[in-house]
Amino acid sequence: MKKQLKSKKYSLFEAPSLSDAKMRKKHDIENIVFEIDQKYQNIGINKTYMVKTYGCQGNIADSEKICGIMDNLGFVEVKDEKCADVLFFNTCAIRENAENRIYGELGRLYPLKVNNPNMLIVLCGCMPQEEVTVNNIKEKYPQVDIVFGTHNIYKIPEYIYDAYTEKKRVLEVFSYEGDIIEGIPLKRDSKVKAWVDIMYGCDEFCTYCIVPYTRGSERSRRPNDIINEVKDLVNKGYIEVTLLGQNVNAYGKDLKDMDYTFANLLEDLAKTGIKRIRYTTSHPRDLDKETMDVMAKYKNIMPHLHLPVQSGSNDILKKMNRKYTKEMYLDKINYLKKVIPSISLTTDIIVAFPNESEEDFEETLDLVRKADFEGAYTFIYSKRKGTPAATYDNQIDPVTAKRRLLTLNKLINEGFAKGNKRFEGEILEILVEGYSETKNHLLCGYTGNNKLVNFEGDEELIGKLVKVKITKAYTWHLRGELI
Ligand code: SAH
Ligand code: SF4
Ligand code: F3S
Repeated sequence: MKKQLKSKKYSLFEAPSLSDAKMRKKHDIENIVFEIDQKYQNIGINKTYMVKTYGCQGNIADSEKICGIMDNLGFVEVKDEKCADVLFFNTCAIRENAENRIYGELGRLYPLKVNNPNMLIVLCGCMPQEEVTVNNIKEKYPQVDIVFGTHNIYKIPEYIYDAYTEKKRVLEVFSYEGDIIEGIPLKRDSKVKAWVDIMYGCDEFCTYCIVPYTRGSERSRRPNDIINEVKDLVNKGYIEVTLLGQNVNAYGKDLKDMDYTFANLLEDLAKTGIKRIRYTTSHPRDLDKETMDVMAKYKNIMPHLHLPVQSGSNDILKKMNRKYTKEMYLDKINYLKKVIPSISLTTDIIVAFPNESEEDFEETLDLVRKADFEGAYTFIYSKRKGTPAATYDNQIDPVTAKRRLLTLNKLINEGFAKGNKRFEGEILEILVEGYSETKNHLLCGYTGNNKLVNFEGDEELIGKLVKVKITKAYTWHLRGELI
């Protein structure tokens, strides 16, 4: 490392702190360049690893860094956990059921460790940022050898070295705002589609959400680092990039020495010549007219926007600390539809937030009808310890919650089908990803609007942009013919 991190360092078995993680001291963000110390080089020779990834695209991108570091240490990646010497769980803390799944997996793995004394089990990602996880691991999961969080991926070489050579259990989680680490080697999963982090963390503090605590403060990468990364991807033959951040519309606000916004970045990236640009996730309050205008101006920015609304009730939106109203949301998307008539909109919705009445829920259904969403991730509210909403009265009973989710999903699926139907008979460009998971003899790929298309074609088309005529629309996908 060129610069030492100024951070609170937790020694062995000391728990992280959600209340520390909440602080926003607004210290200067350090940009640090990653290097592997001589001492750790080759510690992976003759050893294997596997990374299991849960949660959002942020975690998928982090896993590409973990793989990049492991390859550089000489480890070989395997796809079967039974063959892995080092097994990573890159975890998600967003809902209780996501966490329960991980505990189930950890329990199931015990026999693998008995058979392979070289095996290290590593828990990383968002779960270790919570005290409750670390306490659980300490008390009930001796099979876990290394625990680290979202801020210290770059220290993997040291942790593995310590676990192997000093035979000690390693636990280090930084509960602080975070820095930016550049230059971590990336092992990208695809040769044509790439994730590009543009910022880290979140300062929104929606009252239900754990992410601001697990990911630290909003901090933007330098524009040039991002632009150069995308130019490099273009040179390597990549066709599509997805820009990542928890609230990409806040990009640049923390760059004190320059006046540079997400709209500026989007425009600069559109000019690099990359064929397709997507981005996620947007916050409805921060999505501005400039960004929508840039989207409309450049053909290589795809006509799809994922804009989580969470609820259609102004009361609930207020209790969620979302800082916009149903009317403001509808105004924004109406402007977007005006400047990009072909746009596809998708969203996230939470049902059964504490105090959500039948009337509040009806407001959500009304908003879904008015917005014409063409897809949504829908969730039952899950209590997250340490967040404000966990202490709210009037938590909704599970039967009501389930009923609301089913009602909402029915409406969302109608929107999904309707959104697909409008493309029947059209000729669309798609990026071919590979063979379909369910219909193996067919190729599949996504349109600009992010619609999945299955069609017959040769293997050599994989990784290319092709034109397809849509012959039939189904609820979840389109069927097409190569032209
Ligand atoms: N930063 C993004 C995504 C955050 S997590 C955004 O702001 O939209 C993805 C989704 O998980 C959220 O949009 C929200 O719908 C859902 N989510 C977050 N916390 C949740 C909780 N405690 N219970 C249920 N769903 C939750
Ligand atoms: Fe969570 Fe809200 Fe931040 Fe999204 S914007 S990550 S929902 S706190
Ligand atoms: Fe989950 Fe962390 Fe992403 S909690 S949704 S993996 S930021």
